[in-house]
Amino acid sequence: RCQSSSVDDKPKSKRGLLDNASNLLTNLLSGGSLGAMPVAEGAVTDLFGRPLFFSLYDWFLEHGSVYKLAFGPKAFVVVSDPIVARHILRENAFCYDKGVLAEILKPIMGKGLIPADLDTWKQRRKVITPGFHALFIEAMVGVFTKCSERTIFKLEELIERGEHGEKYTIVDLEAEFSNLALDIIGLGVFNFDFDSVTKESPVIKAVYGTLFEAEHRSTFYIPYWNLPLTRWIVPRQRKFHSDLKVINDCLDSLIKNAKETRQEADVEKLQQRDYSSLKDASLLRFLVDMRGADVDDRQLRDDLMTMLIAGHETTAAVLTWSVFLLAQNPSKMRKAQAEVDSVLSNETINVDQLKKLEYIRLIIVEALRLYPQPPLLIRRALRPDKLPGGYNGAKEGYEIPAGTDIFLSIYNLHRSPYFWDRPDEFEPERFSVPKKDESIEGWAGFDPDRSPGAMYPNEILADFAFLPFGGGPRKCVGDQFALLESTVALALLLQKFDVELRGSPDEVEMVTGATIHTKSGLWCRVRRRT
Ligand code: HEM
Repeated sequence: RCQSSSVDDKPKSKRGLLDNASNLLTNLLSGGSLGAMPVAEGAVTDLFGRPLFFSLYDWFLEHGSVYKLAFGPKAFVVVSDPIVARHILRENAFCYDKGVLAEILKPIMGKGLIPADLDTWKQRRKVITPGFHALFIEAMVGVFTKCSERTIFKLEELIERGEHGEKYTIVDLEAEFSNLALDIIGLGVFNFDFDSVTKESPVIKAVYGTLFEAEHRSTFYIPYWNLPLTRWIVPRQRKFHSDLKVINDCLDSLIKNAKETRQEADVEKLQQRDYSSLKDASLLRFLVDMRGADVDDRQLRDDLMTMLIAGHETTAAVLTWSVFLLAQNPSKMRKAQAEVDSVLSNETINVDQLKKLEYIRLIIVEALRLYPQPPLLIRRALRPDKLPGGYNGAKEGYEIPAGTDIFLSIYNLHRSPYFWDRPDEFEPERFSVPKKDESIEGWAGFDPDRSPGAMYPNEILADFAFLPFGGGPRKCVGDQFALLESTVALALLLQKFDVELRGSPDEVEMVTGATIHTKSGLWCRVRRRT
């Protein structure tokens, strides 16, 4: 479905009305200010039927790593180049805001870090980042373990019930990972036990309802919800606002409680990072205790809501795709299980053991390479900018007028045939081979010597060719939390169970909103290991 602006090999008579309309607008727009940038013409029909990031990949191979996508009344610049990505995310980060994404997320996250204006962001980021101290994350390993064990217990019970007359159960692991990640984020961020692995509640339903609406808004291209009265007239918008109220009420009462129970003794422990002796080591406790009781309730609520949404589906998706990939590669699953068996005992997991789970950690990052969450980062230029020259058809830099919307395609970068050998293949081992060649042309390898203390490959080691958590000042605050959480959950699952897909891998289709998830679940046959 893609074509360059100068090539049109489709007979005009076969074009649909929508295509014609969009191409007319495209032509009006394509002579514009982005100069000599290659143009991919998207037809409106490209928005339906398959996730947009697939089309962006095809156009990347055809037009190079910086191109303009003219889509109906809108033009986007699509970037799939590490040097240009580094410029936008790090070197000139404050020339950009979150554009369309902020518009979609503001009604949910208010002035939380993701959609916040730059002034609010600067202030809140300074306050929140210290909350994710390495010792806080270590303290969270207990939460990760407890919640993962609940999931394991549930799976064991399902197997025990022997619904299939065999020693296995058939279960949608994507749904189970979603519950698990929700429980972890609730306890870690605001010390609230959703216990969604074992029960349903109005708050849990409201969280899923809100996520569902956020996804609808990110894939529905006409923001009808901004029209007056829609929140009262359109049933799904009414439901959205009532879901939001349920969550907000819950968060408000947690904030009130945290403020009322603030104690100087806890503040001292927090100052010394003595998390082990705290009954409540959550981020909310930190934010309230360290900043005093006068911190603005509305802002706190926006912060918590942002982390609830940002840290839930993303982690669930990483676990889902890790298992999807392992289930198709039994030898890699056995290799991972052998590692788990040699490192973990039946006692509680600690960080030293996690450091030894190297293969499990590489599986997680390889799953993030193949299925980045989110697959696209969104930016809008606040001022005119000049993009640097990059690779693959983007050798010259381009002028960017203020207001330009940009899609940074992490999916394209992570599957770029120019930077990865066999880019579509699942090879966790690729990260463990350090190459001394520092050049950007090819993965430089995960060499811990170049980054002492780094337990996971990251964007710095990969010179922005690998961006699982973004980069620069707006990089994910929860990256280490999420990585350790996923490592614990995957290790404990593989310690107990063998997992196979119920059907063929092709049946597990991808759909996307903010994250990439399956069309109708990751249905697996889960068997207790012998
Ligand atoms: C930002 C990915 C887990 C909180 C981001 C960004 C990415 C990302 C790519 C950058 C977005 C951009 O530049 O536009 C992920 C992935 C996760 C994960 C793949 C799981 C595997 C978490 C968790 C939390 C969290 C667990 C919180 C507990 C945030 C926040 C931001 C963010 C608050 C905004 C940061 C800012 O703008 O300053 N995440 N994330 N994320 N993430 Fe995560």
